[in-house]
Amino acid sequence: MTQAECSAEAIQRIAALCTSRWHCNYTRIKLRTDPVYAAVLREIGSTHLPLLDIGCGIGLLGLYLRGAGLDATVTGFDYDTSKIEAAKLMSQHSGFSGLQYAAGDARHELPSFSGHVVILDLLQFFTSSEQDMLLAAAASRVASGGKLIIRSGLREATWRHRVTVMGDWLAKMSAWMKAAPVCYPTREQLEHVLSQSGLCVSIQPMWGRTPFNNYLIIAER
Ligand SMILES: C[S@@+](CC[C@H](N)C(=O)[O-])C[C@H]1O[C@@H](n2cnc3c(N)ncnc32)[C@H](O)[C@@H]1O
Repeated sequence: MTQAECSAEAIQRIAALCTSRWHCNYTRIKLRTDPVYAAVLREIGSTHLPLLDIGCGIGLLGLYLRGAGLDATVTGFDYDTSKIEAAKLMSQHSGFSGLQYAAGDARHELPSFSGHVVILDLLQFFTSSEQDMLLAAAASRVASGGKLIIRSGLREATWRHRVTVMGDWLAKMSAWMKAAPVCYPTREQLEHVLSQSGLCVSIQPMWGRTPFNNYLIIAER
């Protein structure tokens, strides 16, 4: 049965799958403190549609969902081949089935897919027109009854936005991210592109206890 969130024990088991100490510490802290994984679970936990995770990194979302008992197929897609390799190893060692990963650049291609689509913390690496193309391509993969779930910082004249930009630059300088931030989407842009794609959009703040200017964007078909 799907639980409301992944337990501390399940998070510990996921972190133990990591192939390096840095990934292990990162995974434990990220899954314990970042509210976005439980938010995705809340949005899709009562359905059985497959999920496409664009910019999946080392595949934490899929493992979190399995740890909470959700058994829908998850396809992770990311252009960083070292992260995709780490995700594959972790899912093999986990014994969970139905977690699959593919490497590719979301600016140029996406897997054929129909179901729920998730984009967490990726849009800032794209230009505004690349964001529009990705959003339309992601929306076209949302099945009837499915959702496109996005977490992103939005471009706003606030201190939170400035802290978000600094955080993304630190991730680049520490080599955790291959790319530096390029452009943050605006609320109006997301509402426009997603409603043009036939989805109903809602946008809520999701900064929790962090200083970041993050929002959760839910677009439903
Ligand atoms: C901040 S991380 C978020 C990771 C994951 N979504 C999570 O929340 O745990 C952003 C991810 O987007 C990936 N990424 C950046 N540009 C990309 C692109 N053009 N195509 C595919 N993935 C990309 C990075 O490699 C990285 O894994």
